[in-house]
Amino acid sequence: MVKYSIAIAGMLSLLSACKPPQKSASSLDFDPYHYTVNKKLEAENGAVVSAHPLASKAGVSILKSGGNAVDAAIATQLALAVVYPNAGNLGGGGFMVARLSNGETVSLDYREMAPGSAHRDMYLDAAGNADLEKSQLGHLSSGVPGTVAGLFASHQYAKLPFEKLIQPAIELAEKGFIISASEARSLNSLQADLKKYNSEMPVFVKTIPWKAGDTLVQKDLASTLRRIQKKGAAGFYEGETAKLIVEEMKRGKGIISLDDLKNYKAIYRTPHSFDYKGYKIVGMPMPSSGGLLVNQMMKMIEDKNIAAMGFHSVQAIQLMTEVERRAFADRAEYMGDADYYKVPVKMLSNEVYLQTRMKNYDPAKATPSSIIKPGELLRAESEETTHLSVIDKEGNAVAVTTTLNNSYGSRTVVGGAGFFMNDEMDDFSIKPGVPNMYGAVGGEANAIKAGKRMLSSMTPTLVLKDGKPYIVVGTPGGTTIPTQVFQTLVNLLEFNMSTEDAVYKPKFHHQWLPDEVMIEKGFPVAVKEAMQKMGYSFSRERGGIGRTECIRVLPNGKFEAVADNRGDDAAEGY
Ligand code: GLY
Repeated sequence: MVKYSIAIAGMLSLLSACKPPQKSASSLDFDPYHYTVNKKLEAENGAVVSAHPLASKAGVSILKSGGNAVDAAIATQLALAVVYPNAGNLGGGGFMVARLSNGETVSLDYREMAPGSAHRDMYLDAAGNADLEKSQLGHLSSGVPGTVAGLFASHQYAKLPFEKLIQPAIELAEKGFIISASEARSLNSLQADLKKYNSEMPVFVKTIPWKAGDTLVQKDLASTLRRIQKKGAAGFYEGETAKLIVEEMKRGKGIISLDDLKNYKAIYRTPHSFDYKGYKIVGMPMPSSGGLLVNQMMKMIEDKNIAAMGFHSVQAIQLMTEVERRAFADRAEYMGDADYYKVPVKMLSNEVYLQTRMKNYDPAKATPSSIIKPGELLRAESEETTHLSVIDKEGNAVAVTTTLNNSYGSRTVVGGAGFFMNDEMDDFSIKPGVPNMYGAVGGEANAIKAGKRMLSSMTPTLVLKDGKPYIVVGTPGGTTIPTQVFQTLVNLLEFNMSTEDAVYKPKFHHQWLPDEVMIEKGFPVAVKEAMQKMGYSFSRERGGIGRTECIRVLPNGKFEAVADNRGDDAAEGY
């Protein structure tokens, strides 16, 4: 097995002119000023894979001190809110899918919610045109955050006190941590937006550019975390933090009120599960389209012997592209928050229906999206997000995908509270047919309504084998999320690839509209050329699609944890 790590500490001390602070008395069992990034490891007791090495370390530290996978997932998410402000969050939302040691599977919805005074046309100007700046940036783009409620709701399955789980995040915010070259680049690219969408300049604004090795200290965020430590969810949804959020909203014409915050609830929902060739695949139900889309795509290939076509063969990629196209056409028409719109989930996952969807599939040529409409129902009846996968030796497996929507969300930091607010309102269909930031279109099913949750693509997923955890997987990437999870599952379950290859090999994406195949660097040129001859259009090649974090249980019972090599993502375990 290949195991490699990047020594950040040495690299950073060379790159950095400023010395990392001396390590003072700390309860952390890792050093936020000198750390390594492990991309792959095998562990016997438990493992965490997340977008940031310090967050993965915080999670494993909790496992080592007696916590289970749920404890570790909570601590990892809180640490990500500090060390990965692009998408780790307090001001956003997310989903958790878990298999508990008692065999039960659960899914938790802590998606953001439209504020009480939100309405269908709130992003249309006087001429009826969609104003994408308002839905994607600044105060009005934020939905009511769900993350803190979700963390406390999931805590019922944890073993350690919440006060302990939040402690690493508090220390990382209070005393700071060393940032990497890519984090410095990311913060530098944000400066103009930060100045435009904030009335009080947050700590991320800097007169001289950020560089690798700088220390990021977030005192306001530390105070917010301490209020949560002391008062629980009320430390966020009520009192000082709520007041700071509402004052921030008022300064920037946002509409989240004290009542919106106080009334927010995380909701346990029945997971979206289906069988695939002897495996049970467990995913998130509405308001995420992820579980249903993966179900549709897997079932549309099930009878096609894709394994015989071979990985990255023209036949396999063409088939998967057509399957992705059809699933996303259904997403645009039928999917939204099922508490507000009757989503025909049973019909959309019906095997006869899915076979009918493939009737006009032609293995020799592209089926243009103009002739693929959302399916005729039978009469009988997310880009920046972050994912973490956690497993423990007790039989708990947790997949969490959480988001601010765009990288750094609305770009607005709550003055005095130190965290970014989401811009999740853009995940609603702000006007029928108008693409959101991911190019996805929608209509009535996903129209804005007060209290409704916007349709998501987040796809935290578990695969169970003989009822026990086998794969824990997920990724960020907006609408590319379900197709990346789909491809990772096909790589593992059909092409029998190693976990590393299944995650690292170049991927692709089709979402019905726009009618083009998106590919990433390294996608085979010969396949692209062959598919162009069959009538497919390709968008410009992207640097990377998704950042998949995957844990697989090996035949010897050990956990194989692989962090995506498309970012600073890291695997930890023991
Ligand atoms: N904001 C990305 C998603 O929820 O799909």
